[in-house]
Amino acid sequence: GAIYLKDYQEPDYWIDKTDLSFDLVENETRVTARLQFRLNQDRHNSQLPPLVLHGNADMKLDLVKVDGVELTPEQYTLTSETLTLPISSDRFETEIVSVLAPQDNTSMEGLYKSGGMYCTQCEAEGFRRITWYLDRPDVMSLFTTRITADKAKYPVLLSNGNCIEQGETEDGRHWKVWEDPFKKPAYLFALVAGNLVSVEDTFTTQSGRDVTLQIFTESHNITKCDHAMRSLKQSMRWDEEVYGREYDLDIFMIVAVDDFNMGAMENKGLNIFNSSCVLARADTATDATFQRIEAIVAHEYFHNWSGNRVTCRDWFQLSLKEGFTVFRDSEFSADMNSRTVKRIEDVNHLRSAQFAEDAGPMAHPVRPSSFIEISNFYTLTVYEKGAEIVRMIHNLVGKDGFRKGSDLYFERHDGQAVTCEDFVRAMEDANGVDLSQFMRWYTQAGTPVLDVADSYDADNKRYVLEITQSCPTTPGQEEKEPFHIPLGIGLLSPAGVNLPVGDKGETTTVLEVREASQQFVFENMAERPLPSLLRGFSAPVRLNYDYSREDLLFLMRHDEDGFNRWDSCQRLATDTILDLVRDIQAANPLSLDSRLIEAWRELLEDETADKAMVAEMLSLPSEQWLSEQMAVIDVYAIHEAREFVRGELAKSLSEPLQSLYRGLAVEKPYKPEAEDIAERQLKNICLGYLTELDTPAMLVLAETQFNNATNMTDQMAALSCVVNGAHQSALEKADALLSAFHDQWKGDANVMDMWLSVQVSGARMGSLERVKKLMEHPVFDYRNPNKLRSLIGAFCMRNLKRFHDLSGEGYAFLADNIIRLDKQNPQIAARMLTPLTRWRRYDEQRVGLMKGELERIQANELSKDVFEVVSKSLA
Ligand code: ARG
Ligand code: ZN
Repeated sequence: GAIYLKDYQEPDYWIDKTDLSFDLVENETRVTARLQFRLNQDRHNSQLPPLVLHGNADMKLDLVKVDGVELTPEQYTLTSETLTLPISSDRFETEIVSVLAPQDNTSMEGLYKSGGMYCTQCEAEGFRRITWYLDRPDVMSLFTTRITADKAKYPVLLSNGNCIEQGETEDGRHWKVWEDPFKKPAYLFALVAGNLVSVEDTFTTQSGRDVTLQIFTESHNITKCDHAMRSLKQSMRWDEEVYGREYDLDIFMIVAVDDFNMGAMENKGLNIFNSSCVLARADTATDATFQRIEAIVAHEYFHNWSGNRVTCRDWFQLSLKEGFTVFRDSEFSADMNSRTVKRIEDVNHLRSAQFAEDAGPMAHPVRPSSFIEISNFYTLTVYEKGAEIVRMIHNLVGKDGFRKGSDLYFERHDGQAVTCEDFVRAMEDANGVDLSQFMRWYTQAGTPVLDVADSYDADNKRYVLEITQSCPTTPGQEEKEPFHIPLGIGLLSPAGVNLPVGDKGETTTVLEVREASQQFVFENMAERPLPSLLRGFSAPVRLNYDYSREDLLFLMRHDEDGFNRWDSCQRLATDTILDLVRDIQAANPLSLDSRLIEAWRELLEDETADKAMVAEMLSLPSEQWLSEQMAVIDVYAIHEAREFVRGELAKSLSEPLQSLYRGLAVEKPYKPEAEDIAERQLKNICLGYLTELDTPAMLVLAETQFNNATNMTDQMAALSCVVNGAHQSALEKADALLSAFHDQWKGDANVMDMWLSVQVSGARMGSLERVKKLMEHPVFDYRNPNKLRSLIGAFCMRNLKRFHDLSGEGYAFLADNIIRLDKQNPQIAARMLTPLTRWRRYDEQRVGLMKGELERIQANELSKDVFEVVSKSLA
């Protein structure tokens, strides 16, 4: 059943001390937990309630003692989810021995084995798979952890905090004791035991303390840790400079593991990472991977304050730590690289994926009010939209005001488990502002829509913006109250001047929209201006204004806001492609609006332009984003229209594309830095267009780049161009290059993930048959989440044309795998289900097919994870 935020109550007991002892033995791990409990006086004063601990049916209970006295089975109650003990004093100690089988744990929650090593994932509710406990984030305790294991097989034994004792036993085993001086909830517990090597560095904090930094991997990956280490040190410095936050332990460790459900985890002092989010070397990782690593290393490090020192009261407050920390990591990346480009990437992702979530059956507020399985709420809404909420507060109170607010928040709540209100209240109190209406961003689901109209009164030189807001209904929320929306705008004169609009003559101002409908008046406007709206994407809304294509071209050239220059370009391309979609549906002949071609030509020929911006602008809107723009998604027509545009652009602009490509294709040593990344990106975008042409010479260009590449960015881009190349000759080449690539990189799991996705995420090669064949390939491993995501996930989420094949075979394939996977790893199964949940958005025939598959899944015995997604999708 569902649990509700409104039912939140403090726990009956607190746990002051948690003493764990792990005896890691193949096929039988014993965990002894000694816990010191104290009655929560605020809740009970007359009678002592029984102690109800969370647990899991996969654990065996070997022993229970209360205050040293062993309980008989008659004295306690054990269910598949709880262990209930009778209690007779307001302070007591329990000793519980649980027996686990980590080698059989395929869920990747709790204690499990990845490759040869033991590791843990406890957020959100994995700790209850290790021992019976009050597994809720408001129960914060001091932990010590003793780990004993075979010394030869597991020379490295790690847990949170500092290592305070170690030793060896006669039988070839050894042990270490770790002590964490900070109170923490159980979800931040971690343990690692394995045959690992590490790179080590140090960081001196602003107050002069030396911190040891270590990154652990299997020995063959030791050469791929430098970038993560550099990113870690930069993050530590940045958090001191921008937030005044210093690291608080003597040691900070990162461990890379191959089998991991998510990206990474911020366990206190011992972050555990999916190896794909930490390992990089120029020849094995693309620029995108380098940047993702920088962001995730920072994200997990920043959690030490926004998440660990100040944590969540309950899981409904997840965005308290995740929204804030995503905001922090994205500002970090903006400071390390190009701010505008980072903003474009983030918004592009939000609008194509989070907006879709908001429009689907799993739509939920940034702070959900109920859930069946919390793992299903590690969503784009909680993370990315949550970060947008924090960004809006940042924009409303300003940079300095935000710092005052965050200082107050950390000072007030250090060592506490708190709520989203507490965060917003600190911002209010530090700045003397009222954010009560703003709180609706946390409680109301759905993407708000701003409809903007304008008028100009030439006689009075008065310009008026008329703004109407609305928000579509979402499950359980029929009516919405108006949001408090910061709307960044500028006005451009017909000559292309960005006019003063702010009180002090600034050319950008933030309008605070609070009403369902509201007018903003601008006086002394000599001529009718053109508005530049939602500058910097100042709020996570859809904005409608009736721009003509000329208006958009004008803004592309003259808008001083870089984000809006890109957005105008996207609007122009979206508008053009959707027109072609209608032509395809009406079986009209297709022809490409020459204005798009000329705009692209201008971008290609502008030698002074910022290369990163040009690269972003030349990238057509994704099929996902285009789908979101249609009332009934026409998968085939969208694909065809977009491909048509790519082909036409390539034909018309083959000269400037070639000359730009050749200008950028110069050999230089690899550096994962903004300027070089931009050059590679732009070069490879040109190559992508050029391989749309049925010209052998263009194929040779790609093949040459593939063969000569000294970094993975260029090698992978070339491979992708050939695999997705438009013509028969490319298809023939593609298999040869794929197999050469395989032979070169078959020993590298993370590179092989890319090899799998590149050949199934495009419509040309990526047939369902190819996916099925690759599932039989030795590099594929059904138990490994990265492999599942790279093959099945890539096909179903990116290769829209093939997945949505009218035969329904793509849907049946996904459903078969969900049913199989649910028994192995419910979290991954529930996540991979996403494409089927969007069934209502398609044509009648697909609606029938997709719904049928959901019903077929529903007929099985399901995990809570998959059950929740399927039942909400069909509701
Ligand atoms: N807190 C982690 C992060 O944001 C994510 C862990 C999520 N784990 C899960 N099983 N849902 O980096
Ligand atoms: Zn996080």
